[in-house]
Amino acid sequence: MQLRIRLHFMLAAFALTAMAQNRPGESDVPAVPSAPEVVSAIIQLSQLNRQKLLVDLGCGDGRIAVAAAKSAARAICVENDSDMLGRARRTATAAGLLHQIEFRQVDLRDFVRDGINLAQVDVVVVYLTAELNRQIAADLERNLKRGGIVISHAYPISGWKPREIKPVRIQSTGNTSRLYVYEPNPRNR
Ligand SMILES: C[S@@+](CC[C@H](N)C(=O)[O-])C[C@H]1O[C@@H](n2cnc3c(N)ncnc32)[C@H](O)[C@@H]1O
Repeated sequence: MQLRIRLHFMLAAFALTAMAQNRPGESDVPAVPSAPEVVSAIIQLSQLNRQKLLVDLGCGDGRIAVAAAKSAARAICVENDSDMLGRARRTATAAGLLHQIEFRQVDLRDFVRDGINLAQVDVVVVYLTAELNRQIAADLERNLKRGGIVISHAYPISGWKPREIKPVRIQSTGNTSRLYVYEPNPRNR
């Protein structure tokens, strides 16, 4: 059992690294969802309320955007896989939270470059790869709202100093995930 779990994580890590080389429009990262404990920790770190806007870049099945909406915030779910985005939309509909979540089927790099006014975004969540993080870091640093935070699941952002590294223990596997919390453009919100 332990060996199977370890193999699963090795395969996931390999796929996350290998797929970072793909061209825009192709899937760069497999749809490995964040565990419920990680979603809860992200929501806690985000300190959400109805004035806040959270963006999940590569939102998968939308679990983080839906959790943010349950905390009264608005959310934008950015995903290039139409099936995943459809699932996210269905989950939001079932939860009665569709009015709080915007869904965008787009390559997250294009979205960060010119798809959104990052100056209005309070929290950006990523669970991608070190390479994808590198590709979007400069735009986030330049344009994110003052005091806005970036939470990266599993992969640190090269060259950035985290404000906090939060370990999250996953009960089902016994493994520990890490959340890297950055404030790239400090000062009060
Ligand atoms: C590891 S999953 C994380 C899903 C979700 N954020 C979570 O934490 O549960 C990464 C997601 O990013 C999406 N993705 C990968 N490359 C992308 C790209 N270039 N543009 C938009 N989405 C992308 C994948 O389809 C996948 O759903």
